[in-house]
Amino acid sequence: MHHFVDCGEQEAAINQAADILRRADRLVVLTGAGVSAESGVPTFRGSNGLWEGHHIEEVATPEAFQRDPKLVWRFYNMRRAALAGIQPNPAHRALVELERRWGPARFTLVTQNIDGLHQAAGSQRVLELHGRLSRVRCTACRYIADRPGESLPELPRCPECDELIRPDVVWFHEMLPQDIWLQAAERTTSCSCFLVVGTSAVVYPAAGLIRMARDVGAALLEFNIERTAASRSVDVGLYGPAGWLLPEVVRHL
Ligand code: OAD
Repeated sequence: MHHFVDCGEQEAAINQAADILRRADRLVVLTGAGVSAESGVPTFRGSNGLWEGHHIEEVATPEAFQRDPKLVWRFYNMRRAALAGIQPNPAHRALVELERRWGPARFTLVTQNIDGLHQAAGSQRVLELHGRLSRVRCTACRYIADRPGESLPELPRCPECDELIRPDVVWFHEMLPQDIWLQAAERTTSCSCFLVVGTSAVVYPAAGLIRMARDVGAALLEFNIERTAASRSVDVGLYGPAGWLLPEVVRHL
């Protein structure tokens, strides 16, 4: 559902968000697929969440990989190939600017995205909750490697032990990388302002950070093309493309 916000309302929300940010000591930003939408990376739930007739939740699970590793690798090889030629957009760059202004001690970027576009834009420190599409790891030994831009076979093998390798991403039914999750939670429970950018806020535990931020009294700002599961609990909602809204807010700082 799209909400068309009139310009005056949007201008007021931009000013309000900039006011809150200016006064905020510590920032945490949580991003989702929407921040990469304007770079041409499809979101999950927008395009009915299907890939070749499969629900994403059916291909992105350890059970699916056990049952049919070729199918799962086909899905991830397609996603890996789609990364070639994709560039960060102004939303990613506005977040680089926030990191520059606040500094690493007071700014934390947490992402659910696996596309690496925040780093490509220049963000120095990114907590990747769901792993990274360009990275692979062995299902048997400790082999792990970043192999961007490489076209992998249907059933890629470990160069060290010859077992099957898998994308180093978090699948449904799997735990998040604990060290990264703990850092994200720790930064969230000590932040004064929390920005929710381009996420439907329905996938847990990532979406739980929003509640954590609210519980410690942080100001909540949402940037999204439409209202989400988080909208009821935010202090300021900015509805429009993140690639326009985020740079606008930064310009008003
Ligand atoms: P979703 O596809 O669920 O949500 C994307 C959000 O971005 C939606 O709320 C859109 O309204 C919003 N959006 C789209 N275009 C936008 C734009 N130009 N500007 C601002 N907002 C825009 O993606 P996520 O919330 O990231 O997990 O999904 C969370 C997790 O579920 C993903 O990390 C992935 C997925 O299944 C795993 O694979 C474990």
